[in-house]
Amino acid sequence: MDMLLTSLFSVIVQLFSIILLVLAQDENQFIYNGFHQANLQLDGSAKILSNGLLQLTNTSKQQTGHAFYRLPLKFNTSSSSTPSLSFSTNFIFAMVPVAPSFGGQGMAFTISPSTDFSQATSSPYIGLFNSSNLGLSSNHVLAIELDPVKNPQFNDRDENHVGIDVNSLESVNSAPASYIDQEGKNTSLKLLSGNAMHIWIDYDEAEKLLNVSLALTKNSKPKKPLLSTRIDLSPVLLDFMYVGFSASTGTLASDQYILGWSFSKIGQAENLEISKLPRLPSQKKSEEIPVQLLIVLLSAVTVVLITIISVAYIIRRKKYEEIHEDWEIEYGPHRFSYKNLYKATKGFKDKELLGTGGFGKVYRGKLPAADSQIAVKRVSHDSRQGLKEFVAEIVSMGRLGHRNLVQLLGYCRRKGELLLVYDYMHNGSLDKFLYSNEKPNLHWSQRYQILRGVASALLYLHEEWEQVVLHRDIKASNVLLDADLNGRLGDFGLARLYDHGTNPQTTHVVGTVGYLAPELSRTGKATTSTDVFAYGAFILEVACGRRPIQHQAPDEETILVDWVFDCWKRGEILNASDPRLEGDYAVEEMELVLKLGMLCSQSKPESRPSMRQVMQYLDCDAVLPEISSDSANINMFLTGEEASRLIMSFPSSFEQGSTHSFSSSDSILIAGR
Ligand SMILES: *[C@@H]1O[C@H](CO)[C@@H](O)[C@H](O)[C@H]1NC(C)=O
Ligand SMILES: *[C@@H]1O[C@H](CO)[C@@H](O)[C@H](O)[C@H]1NC(C)=O
Ligand SMILES: *[C@@H]1O[C@H](CO)[C@@H](O)[C@H](O)[C@H]1NC(C)=O
Ligand SMILES: *[C@@H]1O[C@H](CO)[C@@H](O)[C@H](O)[C@H]1NC(C)=O
Ligand SMILES: *[C@@H]1O[C@H](CO)[C@@H](O)[C@H](O)[C@H]1NC(C)=O
Repeated sequence: MDMLLTSLFSVIVQLFSIILLVLAQDENQFIYNGFHQANLQLDGSAKILSNGLLQLTNTSKQQTGHAFYRLPLKFNTSSSSTPSLSFSTNFIFAMVPVAPSFGGQGMAFTISPSTDFSQATSSPYIGLFNSSNLGLSSNHVLAIELDPVKNPQFNDRDENHVGIDVNSLESVNSAPASYIDQEGKNTSLKLLSGNAMHIWIDYDEAEKLLNVSLALTKNSKPKKPLLSTRIDLSPVLLDFMYVGFSASTGTLASDQYILGWSFSKIGQAENLEISKLPRLPSQKKSEEIPVQLLIVLLSAVTVVLITIISVAYIIRRKKYEEIHEDWEIEYGPHRFSYKNLYKATKGFKDKELLGTGGFGKVYRGKLPAADSQIAVKRVSHDSRQGLKEFVAEIVSMGRLGHRNLVQLLGYCRRKGELLLVYDYMHNGSLDKFLYSNEKPNLHWSQRYQILRGVASALLYLHEEWEQVVLHRDIKASNVLLDADLNGRLGDFGLARLYDHGTNPQTTHVVGTVGYLAPELSRTGKATTSTDVFAYGAFILEVACGRRPIQHQAPDEETILVDWVFDCWKRGEILNASDPRLEGDYAVEEMELVLKLGMLCSQSKPESRPSMRQVMQYLDCDAVLPEISSDSANINMFLTGEEASRLIMSFPSSFEQGSTHSFSSSDSILIAGR
């Protein structure tokens, strides 16, 4: 029974092999552009991936994998008319190492009498042999090895070679992986590059010549083979042989792939269709895609960032936008950046607002670098006209230095406004001390000191500096008090900005009603005498604690200078003194100041003293001349009504403070002739 079964089984096996052989007769060529439905026999680690890619090994260690054409092919038979030992094959492979240049163990195109490699071992034996059968002629194995590892026991030439092996792993012939390109240049290839490579193996029985060529997939078959070895395969190849691939990994491993394979026993193997080949999967891409993805992501992030930054920059630019013109270059050192001023004043917060004057708002600020406090005056100025001259003056005034002048530090220009940066005056403006109850009353000695200080500043402006500077708007609210309550004249020259005017045909009279000299209505021309006139009004203001024009007062007291004059004529000039002083003053000084005030307020400019004389009187270095009792000589200053008649235009940007009602403390702008 057993015998019968055994013989039956052997008959079946024989029948089967006969069928295979019969089939093999017709199997002289095949082509696989990807291995879907390929007639292959796989073992070990070999598998066909879902995309048709033939994977011989993955990166696990000590594996072997085989993929052989399932049918044996007829080789060493004399019966055939075709040269049976001849064959032609080409395939595309890739070795993707775990780390660049760190992979193994290699693969080989193999012609073998058997597909049973169960006894063969991995690593250096490439799944073809074992230590005991290596080199035996009974192996009948031809292998074209692609060897990325240098094995000294096989006399390997290097760690990147192609070799022709017969029954052994010691190559009959080998060459470093390379090809001759179109220009005839020897270009080396790296088996472990992870790139797909094309290899052509051709044997011509008649010439007994085995050629092996290697190239990148994009290149065509090189004209000159990498290896061209004269070899007689008749003792090697049996009648029926299997063709396929063997691969292994050792301690070094790679993903080893075959992308496509063409084989022929009758003439040249067909060319593979590169476009149809499956793509190499993740591993290689996994190294490349993240890099590409990273680049894409980085670019995207960069683009987004650049956009955000540019938008922010544009917004910031807008926010901190300034106007710079060529002519300002020379004033560079005097220029402040708007950004710095913006930050110094905490964004021009109302909390930092020091006051609102005729020419604009003043803010307190702190410059981080200098740790110094500043006052920033924002002056609206729509017109470009006159600005250049004004800035020139402002800058030159920045060079003015006097202990009784508020130091101008610099400027900044934006659309529609000019920002002037001054030293910060801790105690604010003098008028607050005179008229508001928030501030303590100033003693006479302090007041006298202030009047003297302002006089010395005016003297400096009029006579002591390199050019005559007119202030044009002397009044208590333009006198600021520093930490030591020294009077300092501020806003000097600012009035000049308006004087340059928007309309070159008109000269603008600038100042404050009550301080405007009468001749201004005729000439419209500011002089040192008009400044002296204003100074006169100012010292009366300080001595009497009243504004030059006081509408609430009884009629005879409305015009301060008239009233002082009346008091003087009555012989009771001290009655004009500020009641808040409660008589606590040096009588001679009070008399001096009141008389000096009247002297400066004379309608004829030539009758008024110069600032130098004013200083001499205040210092008692000269005796005050007698005042003419002709009342027509006094009370001739430009009144509000007269000023109103002169008004022709008010540039809208100046409207702040220069109101129709002329509250007597506000600076106004009057277009003269
Ligand atoms: C390699 O393939 C084997 C069998 O398919 C599997 O067990 C192993 O995890 C794979 N190794 C890697 C590194 O993918
Ligand atoms: C090597 O392989 C042959 C078959 O090819 C087998 O007979 C032999 O036992 C193997 N030797 C070792 C050491 O595995
Ligand atoms: C390229 O040059 C190397 C020697 O540098 C040589 O071994 C190899 O065979 C050459 N390749 C080709 C394709 O001729
Ligand atoms: C092998 O290469 C040589 C030299 O280029 C060439 O003459 C010969 O025809 C080639 N043989 C085959 C079968 O490709
Ligand atoms: C191949 O065929 C030739 C001629 O028929 C014969 O001499 C040779 O031994 C054969 N080779 C093998 C390996 O069988």
